Amino acid sequence: MKIDYSNQVVLVTGATRGIGKQIADDFAGLGAKLILTGTNKDQVKILNETSEKTEKGKRKFYCVDFTNAESTEGFIEELKRYEKIDVCVNNAGINKIDYIAEVKTTDWDDVMSVNLRAPFMVIRVVSGIMKRNAYGRIINIASILGVISKEKRSAYSTSKFGIMGMTVAVSNELAKHNVLVNSVSPGFVLTDLTRSILSEKEIEDLATQIPAQRLAGPVDISNVVLFLASSFNTYITGQNIIADGGFVNV
Ligand SMILES: NC(=O)c1ccc[n+]([C@@H]2O[C@H](COP(=O)([O-])OP(=O)(O)OC[C@H]3O[C@@H](n4cnc5c(N)ncnc54)[C@H](OP(=O)(O)O)[C@@H]3O)[C@@H](O)[C@H]2O)c1
Repeated sequence: MKIDYSNQVVLVTGATRGIGKQIADDFAGLGAKLILTGTNKDQVKILNETSEKTEKGKRKFYCVDFTNAESTEGFIEELKRYEKIDVCVNNAGINKIDYIAEVKTTDWDDVMSVNLRAPFMVIRVVSGIMKRNAYGRIINIASILGVISKEKRSAYSTSKFGIMGMTVAVSNELAKHNVLVNSVSPGFVLTDLTRSILSEKEIEDLATQIPAQRLAGPVDISNVVLFLASSFNTYITGQNIIADGGFVNV
């Protein structure tokens, strides 16, 4: 079995760092052309210039901030120009933690905008392109905090439970068009997002509570995405695949 993405166009949101960058790198290594996003204009410019020089512009980065409705609209207009998008990975995500009584409305809105509204806007346009081509694979990056939860995670968990609902609903509509829609729920992954929320000590303690005895690396998540997005996935749709080293079963 050899997964091959040559001649495929793959969209990954939030591909500058962490899980999204790993997913983008792995798709690129398997031949895909990439549509990617980041929020920093200068970084996006440099990433596009580097890709132009080293791989004939195989990766096209757009600058988009999903907390900003105008910026999101602009990106959606760009997506409408594509005739072919074979794979869409809604990965960009943020977390804001606080007790429910303290959650700021602006933080709540930002989490919903990035984690839920943006995937909806992206899927709305991408599903039309995929239906026209009678082929597509959509993967939403959810979280184990969309399956279980803990204190201070009301906004994040609401958004992740929501993206799973969207995954199931949309999968029902699109399966007849050969467009399969699934979500992947990482456990704890060593990225900037995790390091911004947990101290080194908390990370060490956490590792001992995971049956695999370690946090995930981005590649542990990318491996699942690459399979679900491939033509080897012919019949899985509307599912949530948990990649957490066994954590939710303890
Ligand atoms: N890390 C974990 O343990 C974990 C666990 C479960 C689920 N997840 C999920 O996995 C996904 C990726 O997480 P990660 O840990 O790789 O995060 P990360 O390292 O913080 O990277 C987040 C990515 O999203 C982009 N992004 C951030 N704010 C954005 C905004 N306002 N608009 C558009 N894009 C934005 C970032 O772009 P810039 O670099 O330009 O800021 C970056 O590319 C998220 O959906 C997250 O909820 C992560």
